[in-house]
Amino acid sequence: MKALIALALASTLGLSGAAFASAELVTKHKCQTCHSPDKKMMGPTWKTIAAKHKGQKDAEKVVADAIVKGSKGVYGKVPMPPQPKAKDDAAALAKFILGH
Ligand code: HEC
Repeated sequence: MKALIALALASTLGLSGAAFASAELVTKHKCQTCHSPDKKMMGPTWKTIAAKHKGQKDAEKVVADAIVKGSKGVYGKVPMPPQPKAKDDAAALAKFILGH
């Protein structure tokens, strides 16, 4: 339902539905506190993550899992805390991130 509203809004604004909805999800879950598309912050950039999983089988599932359960030791010393509230949106977020 929420996704439908976002899509309806996006088409009203003339934006790409999927990209708009996913960027909204990043803001909704405050992922941008630690991540940016191309600027290294506390967490790796979406581009770095997409590059790392390029060509990987099941990449969307692996990344969606990492979002919900958290991650540590893959990109550096700082761990990512689990984001259980993002569970329902994890697949869409993973798709969005891997599209960078
Ligand atoms: C408190 C800071 C913080 C927040 C908030 C945060 N992350 Fe992270 N994230 C990190 C750090 C640090 C890493 C690197 C962990 C590592 O090296 O394994 C990371 C790694 C990741 C990865 C890479 C996982 C992998 O296995 O390749 C993804 C995807 C990711 N974050 C997505 C998200 C999404 C989506 C959100 C919002 C729901 C989010 N993060 C919120 C800090 C954060």
